Amino acid sequence: MGSVRYFGEGLTYLNPGRLRGKLIAIEGTDGSGRSTHIEMLQEWLEVQGYGVVTTGWTRSSLMSKAIEVAKKGNILDRWSFSLLYATDFADRLEHQIIPALRAGFIVLADRYIYTALARDIVRGGNPEWIRNVFGFALIPDLVCYLRIDVDTLAMRVIESKGMNFWESGMDLRLGSDLFDSFKKYQMQLIEQYDKMAEEFRFEVVDARKPPEEIQEALRSKIEPILKTAKKAASAPTQPEAVPIEPEPEQLSP
Ligand SMILES: Nc1ncnc2c1ncn2[C@@H]1O[C@H](COP(=O)(O)OP(=O)(O)O)[C@@H](O)[C@H]1O
Ligand SMILES: [Mg+2]
Repeated sequence: MGSVRYFGEGLTYLNPGRLRGKLIAIEGTDGSGRSTHIEMLQEWLEVQGYGVVTTGWTRSSLMSKAIEVAKKGNILDRWSFSLLYATDFADRLEHQIIPALRAGFIVLADRYIYTALARDIVRGGNPEWIRNVFGFALIPDLVCYLRIDVDTLAMRVIESKGMNFWESGMDLRLGSDLFDSFKKYQMQLIEQYDKMAEEFRFEVVDARKPPEEIQEALRSKIEPILKTAKKAASAPTQPEAVPIEPEPEQLSP
């Protein structure tokens, strides 16, 4: 990662040390193809000898159960949800992402803080507040955004797993039924991702194309940043001793 850069203050109690790996975030709305491509990217990278760790939204051992329960009950307001997501992410950052980067692994993140920003903002959240909440996040080496239009997305989701309550934003009561709500909610999310794509310089990939073409495009975006990544074969299996380093550089979002 070179020098460690955070969106805000970072995890102030933690000296991350030297991060030799690469952090690659795959962003995109529900059903845009993130899981499909992360699986293919992992295999492609491992065949080349890279150590790969994947991490996904709400997958922390600390918070995944609590988030599941909160979603079932639909009793929490957007602040509480954002804070649950932030806690989940902080746990994964400290216990999974940073240790893997220290050890020279490539971390593929299925969603990143941009998803939390988009979801909070479409629920009327204050952009400044939510960005501050996630100020502890590392700035990824690369963010690939799987961009899709809402009509293609709706067809794809109907043909696969179907529409669910949260992916349809039913808590927002935007539409008369699940389908109507899904389209309105996803349209608003996509609008937010599109705005952030410019601000945060996402690499945008057209997610409407066949999977092979998308995978090809993703690989061509990732290849240049691998040049400086250590091969897993030459990386120690345990994280290195953490040298004392100067305070990490801070960037505003
Ligand atoms: N490029 C594509 N074209 C058509 N269908 C796709 C494409 N990519 C993924 N799918 C299908 O769309 C559905 C959602 O893909 P998935 O990878 O699970 O998305 P996500 O993880 O972003 O929610 C799956 O059934 C998958 O097989
Ligand atoms: Mg998925």
